[in-house]
Amino acid sequence: MKIIVFGKDGQLGKAFQKIFAITPFSKIAEIQFVGRSDVDLADQEGIRRILNAFSPSIIINAAAYTAVDKAEDEVDIAYAVNAKAPEEMAQYAVKNNAMFLHYSTDYVFDGKKQGVYVEGDQRNPLCEYGRSKAAGELAIETVFQKSTSGRFAIFRTSWVYGDGANFIRTILRLAKERDQLRIIADQYGVPTNADWLARVSVNFLFDQSLQLTPFPSGVYHVVPNGEITWYGLANLAIKSALDQGIALKAKPEQISPILAVEYPLPAPRPQNSRLSNAKLHFLIEQQNDVTKLEHLNYSWEESVRQYVSQLAQDRLI
Ligand SMILES: NC(=O)c1ccc[n+]([C@@H]2O[C@H](COP(=O)([O-])OP(=O)(O)OC[C@H]3O[C@@H](n4cnc5c(N)ncnc54)[C@H](OP(=O)(O)O)[C@@H]3O)[C@@H](O)[C@H]2O)c1
Repeated sequence: MKIIVFGKDGQLGKAFQKIFAITPFSKIAEIQFVGRSDVDLADQEGIRRILNAFSPSIIINAAAYTAVDKAEDEVDIAYAVNAKAPEEMAQYAVKNNAMFLHYSTDYVFDGKKQGVYVEGDQRNPLCEYGRSKAAGELAIETVFQKSTSGRFAIFRTSWVYGDGANFIRTILRLAKERDQLRIIADQYGVPTNADWLARVSVNFLFDQSLQLTPFPSGVYHVVPNGEITWYGLANLAIKSALDQGIALKAKPEQISPILAVEYPLPAPRPQNSRLSNAKLHFLIEQQNDVTKLEHLNYSWEESVRQYVSQLAQDRLI
C-alpha cells in the first residue's frame, strides 16, 4: 500500500508525520510526505507528475492556502491551491481507484444558521478563502459523481491548532506583550487539535489491525463535542499558561469581550461555526470499536490545557 500526504509542513501535515512514525504503518505502507519544496500546489501538472510517479492508493491532502485575510487579495492562488489542486487529486483517485481524504472548513458556511450545521447544509461562504474551499469541495464531489471507482471523504473541521501558527499561540504571545486584550465574544465554534484530527483520520481509514475500513464517500464534520467563543478560548489558554507558571502581562480579568463588528478584518468570518459531528459518530459507532469511540469523545478543554502545557515545557510561550 502506498500513501501520499500533501502539506507535510502544516499543522495537520506534521501531525500525520508524527502518527505515521509511531504506529506500525511503515511495515504495511510506503508513505510519501510532500511539501512545498517538492511541488507547488498551484502547479496542476506538478501534482499529476508526483501522483503518477508514486502511484499511491491513498491520498491525504493536508495542504491548503490558509491565509484567510490574504486570500482576499490573492484569490487566484487561493483557488489554485484550495480548488484546482484537490480537483487534480480527485481525478487521479477516480482514474486509479484510490481513496482521497481532503480537509475543509467551517468557513464554507455563512454562520447565519441557528444551531449546528449538518453536512448537507447549503454552502454560502462569506470570504474568498471560504469560497475557494467550497469550490474545492464541489470540484471533488463533481469528479467522483461522474465515476464509480475510487472513494473520497471531505473532513470539514474548525479552529485547528497544532505545531504551527494558530489562535492559541497568537493569544499567548499577545498576553506576554500587552496588559489588555480585546477578544471577539460573539463567534462560536470548537477548537480542533491537529493530532486528534490526524488520529481520527487514520481511525477512519483503518481498523485496529491496519486493514482498510470501507466508508461511504461524502462530507463529514470532524470536530470534538462542545463549543466556545474566541473570548472563551483566549481565557482558557491564558489560565492554562498561568497554571504552568508562565508570566503574562494580560491576566484573564484584563481580557475584554468585544463584538466581531468592533474588530473588522479584511475577510468576514462566520458568526456560527458550530458543526454537528453526528454523522461521523454514527459511522464509528457502527464499527463497535471502543478505542475509536473513546478517541472521538475526547475533551477539547483538556486538550487545550495539555497543548498549552506542552508549549510551556517546550519554551514556546
Ligand atoms: N487552521 C485552521 O484553523 C483550520 C480551520 C478549519 C479548517 N482547516 C483546514 O484544515 C486543513 C489543515 O490546515 P492546517 O491548519 O494544517 O494548515 P497550515 O498549517 O496552514 O498548513 C497548510 C500547508 O499547506 C501548504 N501549502 C500552502 N500553499 C501551498 C502551495 N502553493 N504549494 C505547496 N504547499 C502549500 C503550506 O506550506 P508551507 O508550510 O510551505 O507554507 C502548509 O504546510 C486545511 O485544509 C485547512 O483548510 C484549518
